Amino acid sequence: MVKICCIGAGYVGGPTMAVIALKCPSIEVAVVDISQPRISAWNSDHLPIYEPGLDDVVKQCRGKNLFFSNDVEKHVAEADIVFVSVNTPTKSQGLGAGKAADLTYWESAARMIADVSKSAKIVVEKSTVPVKTAEAIEKILTHNSKGINFQILSNPEFLAEGTAIQDLFNPDRVLIGGRETPEGLKAVQTLKEVYAHWVPEERIICSNLWSAELSKLAANAFLAQRISSVNAMSALCEATGADVSQVSHAVGKDTRIGPKFLNASVGFGGSCFQKDILNLVYICECNGLPEVANYWKHVIKINDYQKARFVNRIVSSMFNTVSGKKIGILGFAFKKDTGDTRETPAIDVCRGLLVDKAQLSIYDPQVSQDQIQKDLTMVKFDWEHPVLLKPASPTALKQVSFAWDAYEASKDAHGICFLTEWDEFKTLDFQKIYDNMQKPAFVFDGRNVVNPDKLRQIGFIVYSIGKPL
Ligand code: NAD
Ligand code: UGA
Repeated sequence: MVKICCIGAGYVGGPTMAVIALKCPSIEVAVVDISQPRISAWNSDHLPIYEPGLDDVVKQCRGKNLFFSNDVEKHVAEADIVFVSVNTPTKSQGLGAGKAADLTYWESAARMIADVSKSAKIVVEKSTVPVKTAEAIEKILTHNSKGINFQILSNPEFLAEGTAIQDLFNPDRVLIGGRETPEGLKAVQTLKEVYAHWVPEERIICSNLWSAELSKLAANAFLAQRISSVNAMSALCEATGADVSQVSHAVGKDTRIGPKFLNASVGFGGSCFQKDILNLVYICECNGLPEVANYWKHVIKINDYQKARFVNRIVSSMFNTVSGKKIGILGFAFKKDTGDTRETPAIDVCRGLLVDKAQLSIYDPQVSQDQIQKDLTMVKFDWEHPVLLKPASPTALKQVSFAWDAYEASKDAHGICFLTEWDEFKTLDFQKIYDNMQKPAFVFDGRNVVNPDKLRQIGFIVYSIGKPL
């Protein structure tokens, strides 16, 4: 029986390994982590992450061929294939602060693998890492390994949160990069055989290590670039009376462009787009390519502009002041069907409104009150100027309350803002909401979830990203 161990039981490690266990009953999979609460949650009925379909997959294999454990060293020592899926955040201090990837967790995992290994292993980069990381990892492993053979593979993950299980069951592609030596090719083949249990062979792409590492950064940069492109258009639509949904539809009908990922929004969030583009920018700068670096930087600049533009629109529409006015915040997660708030645009929008002294009532079906408080008071890093951005002060938190549903959040409010496109928001009773709000009642739709015409008929003043006012 092949044994797999995955270091890092997070949004990627947990779901990815659960699906491998489900699809490969002959493989034993252990997911290990240094965090005890995380592992306890994986072993409980309340998994540490919310992901549609995940509970079901975990229930089917946990205790059979899928195990979650804090005994990191034991499981690594026993494994034939070790996936490393630890977090790789942006460095917050020192060389490259604000842009470069912080590989501290990766390096410590690699050193531990070298320490505890007694047999040959395939070590798989699952985390998103800078190009050439495999070379650094190889050095750490081979210089510490008492002659044990390690093959390093790059197998970046392309799942999106909220659709992780679907993406893993039916991936557009699986990418495996390895050394072009006989041992490297054999390792690639071994990993290919794991995925071949359920992924059609033509969707398993093999490449050299550096192409695989760079393809992951490139894919995220291209995806984020599409959103910034449509968001840039949304500003022009508002200025000219065009409707961004109609523009996206017309543009996306061109088969060379395609219809997906062209939804204008208050901005992209999530733990990876900004981090990975900054990582790309840093690599370009280090390689003497400032023009290329600047090109990608602008994708993030437009995203920051879009969030700031949304806040400005709210304040200016409400007669240039939101001081003391209740604003209902509907949705806090960075997208629907996840409880993840990392880099969610809601943080920037709420902070912006708090500076203007608004009273916020926040509702999200999956995000806890504690998490929102942490996010609003967390120290954030300004990627462009490596300085810390001021978090919301503890006094500002007195301006924040939490609601059980959208109706409570909007009761007596002057305005409501849609910041996540949860399905339940599409079927709200807007007449009831309108009746219970202060007048004039404003709606600011950062996700194009409402029908502006219908809401205007009720009496709302509606601002939707990229739509005629
Ligand atoms: P995460 O923070 O949810 O999980 C990482 C886990 O690694 C944490 O539980 C942490 O405790 C653990 N960890 C850190 N150092 C460790 C060590 N030395 N030993 C054992 N455990 C350790 O992160 P994530 O969202 O799963 O992302 C992981 C990687 O995958 C990142 O590089 C990210 O860019 C990439 N990625 C993420 C997504 C996504 O949707 N979140 C998608 C594709 C790729
Ligand atoms: C993204 C990529 O889609 C995954 O392929 C990748 O593996 C992952 O990053 C990663 O490397 O972490 P994720 O961030 O989970 O996945 O979710 P997306 O669906 O890509 O959404 C990201 C953000 O963009 C969200 O805030 C979403 O609301 C926003 N978005 C997305 C738009 O504003 N408009 C769109 O048309 C699509």
